[in-house]
Amino acid sequence: MRLFIVSVSVLLLVALDFSCITSELVDKFSKCGDFFFRQKPPVISGILENYTIICQRYENSVKYATLYDTTRKIPLFSVYKYTGIQEYKNLTKIPWMIESQLEPVGAETREPFVHQAITGDYYDNKQNVTPGHLFPVRYAADRETAKSTFTLTNSIPQKKNLETGIWIRKEQEMKDIMDKYCRDEKNNNKILAYVLTGALPGLNALNNRVNIPSHKWMAFCCRNSSGNSMLSKADWAENKMSNDVETRPKSLQELQTFLNNTFVKNVKFFYNDCM
Ligand SMILES: *[C@@H]1O[C@H](CO)[C@@H](O)[C@H](O)[C@H]1NC(C)=O
Ligand SMILES: *[C@@H]1O[C@H](CO)[C@@H](O)[C@H](O)[C@H]1NC(C)=O
Ligand SMILES: *[C@@H]1O[C@H](CO)[C@@H](O)[C@H](O)[C@H]1NC(C)=O
Ligand SMILES: *[C@@H]1O[C@H](CO)[C@@H](O)[C@H](O)[C@H]1NC(C)=O
Repeated sequence: MRLFIVSVSVLLLVALDFSCITSELVDKFSKCGDFFFRQKPPVISGILENYTIICQRYENSVKYATLYDTTRKIPLFSVYKYTGIQEYKNLTKIPWMIESQLEPVGAETREPFVHQAITGDYYDNKQNVTPGHLFPVRYAADRETAKSTFTLTNSIPQKKNLETGIWIRKEQEMKDIMDKYCRDEKNNNKILAYVLTGALPGLNALNNRVNIPSHKWMAFCCRNSSGNSMLSKADWAENKMSNDVETRPKSLQELQTFLNNTFVKNVKFFYNDCM
């Protein structure tokens, strides 16, 4: 890992400790670890091939993986396992981390970073956005994993009340289902679900650099321990200021059809559609 020496002006602008998440850019998701149902990455033609895969390594293990668009400077999705959450109450203010390996050697003398968003990009209040996690901190199993979610490569410019309003409720609703039903096939006492949270690129950019996604979506697949059958759910929301309260989770098919109509054809998130 290369550490960046960030200039004083950037440090003042972001007013945060700058630390790095140690990560690896790889050519295949399987090199990050097993984050996919049946070890099979999703089928999203023209997408997996075109963007950068990041193994999000923190404190010596890979916590999740991200597909990152270095042109739009947003992640297209983060993929992770939900295993329930342990107690880690005193999580204090966590600094945002940058991705050292997305920038070419010598980039530390040039800025802003050309291949990723920096916290300074988010200081544009006209747009009313803040960094919104894809892998949400409130789904993290433990303290280290929670910290590892604080990288801008896991974040999108999100309208403020999406994060505090409809999306938090959708995440809670999905979490309730996973906590109640999703169990490891090998251990019925262990919560386990395979989850993807993603962003649909939009038409506007923040600070002329960072794409503001039009939608945020998520999907999970797990074994329903009650029925000993497979279970999947999905949901999405428009990235806008709104007072929507609708949180009914949708089916995997509904999300795949939605993305098929708005983004790429014939998306398949889980092997055999999680059957
Ligand atoms: C992926 O890259 C190829 C080659 O550059 C391009 O033709 C294709 O349109 C891209 N696909 C998407 C979905 O951006
Ligand atoms: C909370 O912080 C205190 C003091 O830093 C530490 O001793 C304790 O272990 C922490 N608790 C948890 C659950 O991490
Ligand atoms: C899990 O399976 C049980 C038994 O078939 C069923 O009643 C329940 O609705 C399922 N859970 C979900 C979220 O579909
Ligand atoms: C995706 O859209 C194409 C038409 O653009 C349609 O032929 C195909 O059936 C759709 N697939 C799904 C899964 O909705």
